Amino acid sequence: MRTALVTGANRGLGLEFCRQLLAAGWQVTAGCREPARADALQALADGSSGRLRTTALDVTDATAIDTLIRALPASGHLDLLVNNAGVLVSGERFGSVRAEDLARSFAVNASAPLLLTQGLVPWLQRGHAAKVLCVSSQLGSIAQAREFRTVSYAMAKAALNMAVRRLAAELGGRGITVAALHPGWVRTDMGGTGAPLRAEESVRGMLAVLGTLTPARGGRFFAYDGSELPW
Ligand SMILES: NC(=O)c1ccc[n+]([C@@H]2O[C@H](COP(=O)([O-])OP(=O)(O)OC[C@H]3O[C@@H](n4cnc5c(N)ncnc54)[C@H](OP(=O)(O)O)[C@@H]3O)[C@@H](O)[C@H]2O)c1
Repeated sequence: MRTALVTGANRGLGLEFCRQLLAAGWQVTAGCREPARADALQALADGSSGRLRTTALDVTDATAIDTLIRALPASGHLDLLVNNAGVLVSGERFGSVRAEDLARSFAVNASAPLLLTQGLVPWLQRGHAAKVLCVSSQLGSIAQAREFRTVSYAMAKAALNMAVRRLAAELGGRGITVAALHPGWVRTDMGGTGAPLRAEESVRGMLAVLGTLTPARGGRFFAYDGSELPW
């Protein structure tokens, strides 16, 4: 059975990834900070005939990552890692950017996907044509940067994009494909009610892109509709 690990799985796009992967027959490990309070995820787990299990995972907590890795079967495999957890500090304006917001943004959006991927490589290498999907954002595109707002988020997603390039270079030869995906502007807590896309459409698109990925197409930046974005 194909196996996946999804971070930030309790709401928004992460929850929808879990829903669609389950529907497609995958075995899913759903990481979130507080599984006991993740009601929608627990409901999904309850109806999954044991194919979805939740695990406590604050992606910025190195001990939590170690614990997760130590709990994996030593000779097990992972076919898909979805680095989805993300944080956006809203309302940032030039003159009032805070050091702690920059640090948190980098920790969640950029450092965590790199560190989690690094730790999971032995399991990914045993996976079938394993893929690492890093949910990035168009706001992290340097080529498209036009304004200052959401600067810590944009900087951190640009750093994530660099991590994707570096990881793809390192892992492509081991058969692991790493790519950055922009989900579109989606109606979630982060995207807000004015966003044009439903999570269902965005994730359906991203999983379709995933199906086209090979190590040769790794290290690239795609939108949910399959178009390629400039770095
Ligand atoms: N929605 C959009 O329009 C849009 C556009 C471009 C990119 N994205 C990207 O898409 C991804 C998912 O976003 P979303 O729209 O689903 O946002 P969301 O509804 O705000 O969900 C964010 C998820 O990330 C989790 N998270 C935050 N910090 C975490 C941490 N330290 N450890 C573990 N999980 C953590 C949250 O968990 P808690 O509930 O515990 O906070 C939540 O599950 C993010 O990477 C985001 O940057 C979204």
